[in-house]
Amino acid sequence: MKMGHIAIFLLHTHLLLGVTSSLVIQSMPWRVSCPHQCVCQIKPWYSPQSVYREAPTVDCNDLLLIQLPTSLPQETQTLRLQSNLISSVDQSELQGLVNLTELDLSHNSFTSTRNLRITDLPALLSLHMEENQLRHLPEAAFFGLSNLQELYLNHNRLRSISPGAFKGLDRLLRLHLNSNRLVVIDRRWFHALQQLEVLMIGGNPVEIIQDLNFKPLGSLRSLVLAGMGLREISERALEGLQNLESISFYDNSLIKVPKEALQKLPGLKFLDLNKNPIQLVQRGDFRNMLHLKELGLNNMEELISIEHSAMENLPELTKLEITNNPRLSYIHPQAFQKLLSMESLMLNSNALSALHSQTVRSLPSLQEISLHSNPIRCDCLIRWVGADNDKPVRFIEPQSTFCSEPPELKARRVKEVSFREMADSCLPLIAPSTFPSYIEVKHGDNVALHCRALAEPEPNIYWVIPQGVRLTPSSSYGRYQVLTEGTLQIFGVTAEEAGFYTCVAQNLVGADTRSLTLQVEGSNLIRGRTQRREDSFEVQDVKERYALLSWQASHNVPTAHLSWVANGSLEDHHRHSTRILAGTRRFNLTRLQPGTHYKVCLHLGPNDTSCVHLRTKEVSMPDPLPDLTPAVLLAVSALLLLLAARACHGGASFSWKEHIMEFEKPHTTILTQEAKAFMTVPIPVKCLNQQDQGKVLSDGRGKDLRNEMLGQVAQGLTKEAC
Ligand SMILES: *[C@@H]1O[C@H](CO)[C@@H](O)[C@H](O)[C@H]1NC(C)=O
Ligand SMILES: *[C@@H]1O[C@H](CO)[C@@H](O)[C@H](O)[C@H]1NC(C)=O
Ligand SMILES: *[C@@H]1O[C@H](CO)[C@@H](O)[C@H](O)[C@H]1NC(C)=O
Ligand SMILES: *[C@@H]1O[C@H](CO)[C@@H](O)[C@H](O)[C@H]1NC(C)=O
Repeated sequence: MKMGHIAIFLLHTHLLLGVTSSLVIQSMPWRVSCPHQCVCQIKPWYSPQSVYREAPTVDCNDLLLIQLPTSLPQETQTLRLQSNLISSVDQSELQGLVNLTELDLSHNSFTSTRNLRITDLPALLSLHMEENQLRHLPEAAFFGLSNLQELYLNHNRLRSISPGAFKGLDRLLRLHLNSNRLVVIDRRWFHALQQLEVLMIGGNPVEIIQDLNFKPLGSLRSLVLAGMGLREISERALEGLQNLESISFYDNSLIKVPKEALQKLPGLKFLDLNKNPIQLVQRGDFRNMLHLKELGLNNMEELISIEHSAMENLPELTKLEITNNPRLSYIHPQAFQKLLSMESLMLNSNALSALHSQTVRSLPSLQEISLHSNPIRCDCLIRWVGADNDKPVRFIEPQSTFCSEPPELKARRVKEVSFREMADSCLPLIAPSTFPSYIEVKHGDNVALHCRALAEPEPNIYWVIPQGVRLTPSSSYGRYQVLTEGTLQIFGVTAEEAGFYTCVAQNLVGADTRSLTLQVEGSNLIRGRTQRREDSFEVQDVKERYALLSWQASHNVPTAHLSWVANGSLEDHHRHSTRILAGTRRFNLTRLQPGTHYKVCLHLGPNDTSCVHLRTKEVSMPDPLPDLTPAVLLAVSALLLLLAARACHGGASFSWKEHIMEFEKPHTTILTQEAKAFMTVPIPVKCLNQQDQGKVLSDGRGKDLRNEMLGQVAQGLTKEAC
């Protein structure tokens, strides 16, 4: 993986340096007296600046040589001595090789550059010393190589480099120092390297890039800082890299996008942040990077969310790769702003249940998109895929882009599900990967729990803390703060904060909840459960057809429910019940019969039930029942479709499937109750059975309103929801 990745990055680098690698030229024979066991041929050769040459080449690789072969042909331009046992070279052994341009001593036994006694090789452009055992570079270590353009010192054991080690290398373009043991980067090394274009220094245990560390490298075009354990990049760390086009932070320990440092790179085109433990890509992380063309955010184990305006005004960005992030479940509909050139959006192999149509619409130049290997929910959010879009977007691997939900569409290819088969509004869904169901933290830790949900209409998110208090975004309470995006922050956790937390995402269609137990190391958990609540359950107001109930809650009960029954009616189908969303303390019990006695009970746990009695008012004026109009039935069908879509979602979800209406009283409006203080619509629990199916589909007066959509819905219900 890592090698592959670096190879891709090198490819970029080569492109930057203009190498045309498409030409394939064969070697040609070179009739010359060749050293024993070596091979002498004319071979294609590219200078570091991509000038092509046919170079007389001597290959003496892998021969267990302990010193250079004698009688090398005078015309030699490339001398390859890889994988031998050479530990020293003397100028005299290379005497007369006036055209020697490349010397490859990689994978040999050098322990010190003092054994590289080359005093004058004016034609040498390229020196390979990688995979030796160099430990230190002294002052002016390569002094005789005044025309050198490429120096490879990667995979040695370099612990220290003298400030003036590279003195005399005025023309150096490319320096590879990766995979050594350097713990600091010294700006003074670079004073001699005014023309350097490529620096690879990754794979060294450097933990901190100091301010202005690369300041002298005004010509640098590509910088690789991969695999260094970098935790943060300070604001001025990259200052002075005026011409940098490509930077890689691959495989570091960055927990945030180093946005301030990146702002100091006016010419940046390629940015690689792959494999860093970044959790959130936040507003302003990538902003006004006017030349950025390609951005990689792949292989991030921790990445959960791409937030509102995470990428803004990147007018030249053409390719964005956000793949192989096992927890990435959320991309805000407005995550991308003013990305006018974006052509290619790679989002495969994440935990995305959807990509909002708004996201796609915000990318006017989009040509191709990759969404395969995601748990796609085929409902309203992904509906745009099947719509007649004016500008079709090409799907990469459409044959492996499947629906995971709802059950009746499972394993269908997303592209093959028609627009009509997907609902036009849908329930919120909190991805299971956003936070675990149990975490243990230390006393004093700061904790951030990220809760995100996609839905149409866009859901509201709130948290219920162990004390039963409901916290909405932009509010704070004690040590708690809830951010606009749905993140609950706890500052300096104490034993007080241990307990049961629930995140609720809710829109007009319904809600999803997800809970977590927070344990604080060394403290006793599970309070509240056993302690007797002082909750008072009471009736606040009663009218003809509804009653307002309220109660206190001293702890978070995500499994609460309410049941009610009219006096005298013992038959089961008159007993109703509904789940109560976590954090709710008031409830508008609607659709009651006037002038009737009811017993209403609140169940907060197996042994924790309080009941009240109430009597609804008598009807003062005649109140004719409205007809069951086709419009009402349509509303019903929409609900059912949602129910079906929802039915497959397991876990701690709260969905309307438990609230299927009783069709004996079809006149009630179901979908429109505003979800504020009185949040849940009480719909009696009654699952449909096979016989009921017909009932749903007819208007009760014998007139069959069946249509394709309804038929499907009812099937989905009987199969899955009940
Ligand atoms: C070195 O290269 C030059 C220019 O290509 C050529 O004229 C000269 O003969 C070469 N010298 C040797 C010793 O091959
Ligand atoms: C309903 O139950 C309450 C409480 O048990 C009782 O006082 C009332 O008389 C009953 N009403 C009817 C109509 O049965
Ligand atoms: C309770 O619900 C009824 C019926 O939907 C409605 O008329 C009433 O305004 C609601 N009351 C409150 C306080 O929301
Ligand atoms: C609830 O009551 C039952 C029977 O009285 C008892 O066995 C059980 O432990 C109680 N549960 C809780 C959580 O108190």
